[in-house]
Amino acid sequence: MQHTNDIKKTLFTQQQIAARIEEMGAEITKDYAGKRPIVIGVLKGAWIFLADLLREVDVDVDVDFMSVSSYGSGTTTSGSLTIVKDLTVDVSGRDVIIVEDIVDTGTTLARLKEMLLARNANSVAIATLLNKPSRRKVEVAVNYFGFEIPDEFVVGFGLDFDEKYRTLKDVCVLKEEAYM
Ligand code: PRP
Repeated sequence: MQHTNDIKKTLFTQQQIAARIEEMGAEITKDYAGKRPIVIGVLKGAWIFLADLLREVDVDVDVDFMSVSSYGSGTTTSGSLTIVKDLTVDVSGRDVIIVEDIVDTGTTLARLKEMLLARNANSVAIATLLNKPSRRKVEVAVNYFGFEIPDEFVVGFGLDFDEKYRTLKDVCVLKEEAYM
């Protein structure tokens, strides 16, 4: 596989990730039985995880994508959330599940959730593959997460550095010299 020289260690293998995603999918299936949530993938990091997660979810869903950038203070939800690509569906009255690759400071997700609630979503849940609680600056409820990770620079399974490494099959820690 390309880039293997840049990898310090593997945190989660594709087999471990697949097993965990199966469990997450079962949880979501149970929680949303009889409902039809809108699942929003946040580009770009979420697309690989979203594709695998939704194939483990056994309820009907609508899928849409957004691309956003979070600017301003990372300690509040009041900084601006710039919408680079907006939804094509109306979330009003709907149950929404935001799918992310990682929740880090929490800024992006807190602002996005606030925005979707302001658009009158009935509920907004967050599902992320990785959670880095030690980096949190803004409180945000993470409803479903695959793994909690320490504060290390991770790539793979959707996560990039400078747009590289997204298609690595494992979640890996990058060598310092690869991003310094
Ligand atoms: C990552 C991730 C979240 C955000 C989380 O996106 O996908 O959207 O950062 O960080 P936060 O909790 O500190 O707000 P990134 O900006 O790397 O873009 P990408 O998804 O296109 O890789």
